[in-house]
Amino acid sequence: MSGFGRNLRWAMALSVGLAVAGGGAIAKIDAKKAVADRQANFKQIGGAFKAISDQLKSPTPDMAVLEASAAKMASLGGQADAWFPKGTGPSKTYKTAAKPEIWKDAAGFAAAAAALKTETAKLSEAANSGNLDAFKAQVRPVGMACKGCHDKYRVNPA
Ligand code: HEC
Repeated sequence: MSGFGRNLRWAMALSVGLAVAGGGAIAKIDAKKAVADRQANFKQIGGAFKAISDQLKSPTPDMAVLEASAAKMASLGGQADAWFPKGTGPSKTYKTAAKPEIWKDAAGFAAAAAALKTETAKLSEAANSGNLDAFKAQVRPVGMACKGCHDKYRVNPA
């Protein structure tokens, strides 16, 4: 083999090695960020749901608050499936309440995420329609969608 061929092989082996090392480092940073981002998103969903239940305790709920909160839940809730890329499960480098079952039972988790999308979209539609009774009736299915997923796929706070 010529010296040139050997050098080329070396260069290729080196660049592949660097790409692997670089990819590993990037994946780690992304996992941490993905987890922090999804937790922030769920916090927002939780805050919006609380704003709704607070309004519903009032004899005269503010429809504008219901509409804005439901719209927020629908827009965030429709994306939840994408917040759980592989490699963002339990780790020593960050805290997460996501259970490994999310990835072991990917179809079940996708169904739970789809339920959130469907039910929050209906909630937002009901808010936009201005029909308070229809809105109230849709709050429970949304709550069941949260619970259905948390019971199976989240380590629940004691
Ligand atoms: C498809 C599954 C799924 C659905 C549906 C779901 N959640 Fe969650 N939720 C999770 C998982 C998993 C976590 C843990 C995320 C983590 O720690 O990485 C979580 C975390 C949370 C948190 C804690 C965020 C934090 O501060 O770390 C709140 C609040 C929350 N969810 C509220 C809700 C509400 C309200 C609903 C319904 C409107 C809902 N979730 C629907 C899976 C779901």
